[in-house]
Amino acid sequence: MRKQILAANWKMNLTQKEVHSWIADFQTKNWNSEQVQVRVYPSAIYLKDFTTAQVHCGAQNVFHEVRGAFTGELSVEQLQSIGCQSVLIGHSERRELFQESNELIAQKVKACIKASFPFVLCCGEPLSVRKAQTQEAFILDQLQKNLEHVSPDQIDLLAIAYEPIWAIGSGLSASVHEITEMHLAIRTFLMARFGEAGQNVSILYGGSVNTANAAAIFNCANVDGALVGGASLDVESFYELWLALCA
Ligand code: PGA
Repeated sequence: MRKQILAANWKMNLTQKEVHSWIADFQTKNWNSEQVQVRVYPSAIYLKDFTTAQVHCGAQNVFHEVRGAFTGELSVEQLQSIGCQSVLIGHSERRELFQESNELIAQKVKACIKASFPFVLCCGEPLSVRKAQTQEAFILDQLQKNLEHVSPDQIDLLAIAYEPIWAIGSGLSASVHEITEMHLAIRTFLMARFGEAGQNVSILYGGSVNTANAAAIFNCANVDGALVGGASLDVESFYELWLALCA
């Protein structure tokens, strides 16, 4: 059975005080579930605040080298050493604003695999690609290149987040039809690439998930949860998404 995951991507938001208050609010809710796992991806400086909070916490980025002269970067080993449990790789903001190429992302995937460190590989097409109706080829090309170094016995480390760039932070999520179509294409790719093991990879949707559209999105075939930006900054709305996914 593949995992259902509700993941908060805080991006570059919240101060220390706000993080403490978020964690205090978080701890007043019941997040126990057999089928759904809750995860938080805060700015890396707050990861240690989560180690006592009994919640899966992960980093938003990692560098592929093990150690050395890479000012400002963090390694897989460093993240693991403080109890960080997973990492996002290839978020579209990293790809677009920080020029992360498919090749670099493949290196990051390789570093995670080597250290047995779970990761969420993010993929997503820009609006121009969606308008040209070439989104499927675009996404499968990203996955093909980013997962180049992964073999079937390693894919329990992998989850995928499909996040169309035009839907991120725009308030305009993809439609259930668009989501179902792409998640099926991704599942089909995973099965062709990894065989039966491809069934076990969780595929999350991301892009303006909120309390109004969550239930419909979670009902789509091959949607195994969500990666949530804006609506995760407030514990109340994040908890509503949790209830929708557990329902
Ligand atoms: P959003 O962000 O929910 O604010 O659209 C999602 C993401 O970028 O992961």
